[in-house]
Amino acid sequence: MYPERPAGIAYGGDYNPEQWPREVLEEDVSLMREAGVNLVSLGMFSWALMEPEPGRFAFGWLDEVIDRLHRAGVAVDLATPTAAPPAWLVAEHPDVLPVTREGLRIGFGGRQSACSSAPAFLEATGRLVRALGEHYRGHPAVVMWHVHNEYGAPLGECYCEHSVAAWRRWLEAAYRDVSALNEAWGGTFWGQTYTDWSQIDAPRANHTTVNPAQRLDYARFSDGQHRAHYALQRDILREVTPGVPVTTNFAGTVNCKSTDLWQWACELDVIANDHYLQAERPDNHIDLAMSADLARSVAGGEPWMLMEHSAGAVNWQPRNLAKRPGEMRRNSLAHVARGSDSVLFFQFRASRFGAEKFHSGMVPHAGADSEQWREVVRLGADLRRLAGVRGSRVRAEVAIVWDWESYWALELEWRPSVDLRFRERVDAFYEALWREHVTVDFVHPSADISGYRVVVAPSSYLLTEASAKNLRQYVEAGGNLLVSYFSGIVDEHDAIHPGAHPGALRELLGLSIEEFHPLRAYETVQLTGQLIGQLTGDLTGEPADGGAARIWSERVRPAGATTLRGFASGPDAGHPAFTRHDLGAGAAWYLATAPLTGLRDLLAQVLAHAGVSRPHGLPDTLELVRRGDHVFLINHGDQAVTVEGVSGVSVFDGVRHDGPVTVAAGDVVVVVPSPHP
Ligand code: GAL
Repeated sequence: MYPERPAGIAYGGDYNPEQWPREVLEEDVSLMREAGVNLVSLGMFSWALMEPEPGRFAFGWLDEVIDRLHRAGVAVDLATPTAAPPAWLVAEHPDVLPVTREGLRIGFGGRQSACSSAPAFLEATGRLVRALGEHYRGHPAVVMWHVHNEYGAPLGECYCEHSVAAWRRWLEAAYRDVSALNEAWGGTFWGQTYTDWSQIDAPRANHTTVNPAQRLDYARFSDGQHRAHYALQRDILREVTPGVPVTTNFAGTVNCKSTDLWQWACELDVIANDHYLQAERPDNHIDLAMSADLARSVAGGEPWMLMEHSAGAVNWQPRNLAKRPGEMRRNSLAHVARGSDSVLFFQFRASRFGAEKFHSGMVPHAGADSEQWREVVRLGADLRRLAGVRGSRVRAEVAIVWDWESYWALELEWRPSVDLRFRERVDAFYEALWREHVTVDFVHPSADISGYRVVVAPSSYLLTEASAKNLRQYVEAGGNLLVSYFSGIVDEHDAIHPGAHPGALRELLGLSIEEFHPLRAYETVQLTGQLIGQLTGDLTGEPADGGAARIWSERVRPAGATTLRGFASGPDAGHPAFTRHDLGAGAAWYLATAPLTGLRDLLAQVLAHAGVSRPHGLPDTLELVRRGDHVFLINHGDQAVTVEGVSGVSVFDGVRHDGPVTVAAGDVVVVVPSPHP
């Protein structure tokens, strides 16, 4: 249920007028009109103002703001301010303060300073949200609810007494019998057998590593507690204001590890995501694209909302770089290209005080006579012209497997190498596909993937029997599955699948792994060029034109798979590195290392085999995405790029193109076959 209003693309952001004298509201309203702002999020951290004392509500100040915005035609996404519990709650109930894994009870003065399992917090949440909902029931400006702010970041897991009590209840519901838990957690290892639920603690910091199955369950439990806190609020709002969509903003699909968004998705009326560039990372627009693609995928392909990004610099990275001219516009339009029906910022006006005073706003401290504000106004005009894209979909032929449970499990302690990181492999494959101009969806390994020509599993360390079966059926029915090393290793309890690795995928891939040979920090190995037929002997001395690889090597023993490339040096010289196993109507490909530069070549081979269509001859600085009948051409490079074969009308300037379209350095061109009314 996407909010009906505002029409077209929603434009605006978090707005905190409570930090400013009354007259600034008037100035802001006129600036909003100038830029075409049509939606703001209000009240995000204003619990202390909305309820100055327990049970005494004060919404007058907010009424005034909402009414003023409404008169100016600006709709409101009204927040429940539970991410900033008031000082009186903490003073009265110090037990709401979360406890870290190391046992430190955090103090008041930051945000997210209450535990989602603390009864006093839950009670106060319910009372406030009901009062807020009742007060604004039927208000024409309030078009959606924004519950809390960024669950899971920074507060992921809490180790307080309330959490532990809830954890025991959760375990009992999940396992019913303590002996089932002992079995699932491998209780015979290090003598961790329990005879009663009351003996089980949270997996606190320890001088050795802690049972990984226990930690994995604690991650599931903790995420579920936040979801329950969200659902408590959502249910009240649905009861009190039926028909008004409810959401919460994800703390960055790709960047918040602690929330399993496949689980969250069905709880929200509309998916809302925040994304912040890692300013110093080169090509950080690729991380942005990945975040947007994951948001769209979590939304099941439906349009989603970009709830926050920044107009310029953030304030919380080591070096907070300002965006260069045009970058904010490219960032915003890339989100729209990938399915967002909104462009919203944190925040409208930069704060003068508090922890975020060096964070940019749409209105910077320099005011409206600034390059940044002029870009904000220009973007508003662009978005009005893009109204016709609203509601349309992006189609992808390739999917990448993304599973938060695998992410959690892979990054627990005591793995074969510290270089095995979930994001490292996913990023590598995503980036290679992005540079090949291939748009991807993300999928859970148990999802229906039958519609994709290629599915890539870069980091599926944890894979259940059921998911492995799903992948097998996909291949047998004609799909192409590309699996990277250290996938299919453990089950849902982080226990190794029986037999040789990769237990869950051995038969599907037509191979087994005899030994892992993780590489030293700066070590590389050489790969052979294309091989024909089976690799049987020692390859040392053969031309090693397959490029170098890093991180990982392993002894692959084919059992049905054909070797396409081998290791030409290192611990597995003469043995397979890249294989294909034809199975049923499809093929399962396996890559046993991390190529330094050659990943695009290997991927291209799989894409060609699978008949994936993609443009050729474009530089890899040009982002090309189709959404509905709109073609987005975003030039991240410093040279103009000419794209052949795009005919239609350019949305921003009305120019008709028949064939080549030139996109100036740093510019964005959007073309539709014929202009939308
Ligand atoms: C987000 C948060 C915002 C603001 C922003 C600053 O994570 O939701 O409230 O703090 O970061 O970049």
